[in-house]
Amino acid sequence: MPAYGIIGAQWGDEGKGKVVDFLSERADFVVRFSGGNNAGHTVINDKGEFALHLVPAGIFWPHCTSVIGPGVVVDPGALLEEIDALESRGVDTSGLVISDHAHVVMPYHVKLDQLEEQARGENAIGTTGRGIGPAYVDKTARAGIRIGDLLDAPYLRERLTSVVAAKNLVLTKVYEADPIDLEALYNQCLEYGTKLQRYVTNVEQRVSDALDRGERVVLEGAQGALLDLDHGTYPFVTSSSVSIGGACTGLGIPPQRIESIIGIFKAYSTRVGAGPMATELNNATGEHIREVAQEYGATTGRARRVGWFDGVAAAHSRAINGFTSAVLTRLDVLDGMPSVQICVAYEVDGKRYDRFPSLPGLLARATPVLEEMSGWIIPTAGVTDLDQLPKEARAYVDRIQEIIGCPIDLISTGPKRHESITVRPIVPDAPEA
Ligand code: GDP
Ligand code: IMO
Ligand code: MG
Repeated sequence: MPAYGIIGAQWGDEGKGKVVDFLSERADFVVRFSGGNNAGHTVINDKGEFALHLVPAGIFWPHCTSVIGPGVVVDPGALLEEIDALESRGVDTSGLVISDHAHVVMPYHVKLDQLEEQARGENAIGTTGRGIGPAYVDKTARAGIRIGDLLDAPYLRERLTSVVAAKNLVLTKVYEADPIDLEALYNQCLEYGTKLQRYVTNVEQRVSDALDRGERVVLEGAQGALLDLDHGTYPFVTSSSVSIGGACTGLGIPPQRIESIIGIFKAYSTRVGAGPMATELNNATGEHIREVAQEYGATTGRARRVGWFDGVAAAHSRAINGFTSAVLTRLDVLDGMPSVQICVAYEVDGKRYDRFPSLPGLLARATPVLEEMSGWIIPTAGVTDLDQLPKEARAYVDRIQEIIGCPIDLISTGPKRHESITVRPIVPDAPEA
């Protein structure tokens, strides 16, 4: 039986954590397939409020196996801290498994991420500073260390010796920074290996076998399609394939095993870091939304940029992912606004663009063509029944559905697990035994 892809459809922070936690009730496996601890997935459930960075959001359901797949880059120190923090709050993490093929985010990656950002000056990307870009660079350059390597002392020493020598040249000669101490790093890696050993396994096989057995696998995307390395607003993107294609490559599952591809859209837009955002609201309305929604990053605490729903970007996102359905989150944030707006086209240098322009210069100069709709007074916050939505909110949802061109199966009306309207179940019930 199939896999279900949950993909951020905008610039990240759409509410994937909430949605995956909600859907995991019906899942046997929940799998992260890309990114690293640049992600911050908020979950609020009966155990409290959590910001997950590497651990999949299925972890709160004891029946679920939570998988960190081979396409993820793992900072072992950050992961161990996250596991400890979850355990100390009564969350059982024994159902976690980590791919031996996942690449390690090393301390020198974190250092290089920060040095590279400084060197970019005004052109900084606004990365999360977690070493994600440099770790993926090393993976592609075949200079990465993998989680499995931490469990093999002689091999680890051999790999680290050559990699650290090269890194130290860059650190000292290019950036005039302090070199990495090979011995200290080697010992730290061995310690990480010892602590993580119990979780490490061949997860590709586990997931493939689970699919063969007819189990339900939820693929937990990180970031959002507009941050995708190939299809996002390059160079203001992250360094991995965060769209559905990344689930196939990052996990080693064939595309036909994915039954449905669900785009997670927020009812408006946010973006953290630099890069084009045509619908950005640098005014009191944007400020209002940011404060009502508390749009501050779950990883870095940075204020998120806020704007109207961008239908042009949304259609692009749908095209590259082939969404079979969508989830609309944070509808309640717009409660009480006199009117709401949706971007239906861009204007660049006096010319109208109905499709997402691919060139960065055009994107940077794009201004939105906005369609205005009535706001709603009756709150949607906490509503769990479609019929209870005020008619103006319903019209707004319907218009977004029309623009993105696929059905909205779930509407989220609050951050808590059950503040959700199920229009059509995304993950089916388990088949009768
Ligand atoms: P993710 O990275 O996609 O998992 O999203 P984040 O957790 O970074 O950011 C989403 C924020 O929205 C979190 O603070 C969630 O608790 C919150 N959230 C999710 N869904 C809803 C919703 O429907 N309404 C409201 N008000 N908050 C929501
Ligand atoms: P979740 O999974 C929002 C952004 C950073 C920066 C760019 C590159 O919580 O939705 P990186 O550190 O990846 O090299 O930074 O990508 N970014 C995110 N923005 N949500 C995320 O993850 C993000 N992960 C990376 O802000 O602009
Ligand atoms: Mg987030």
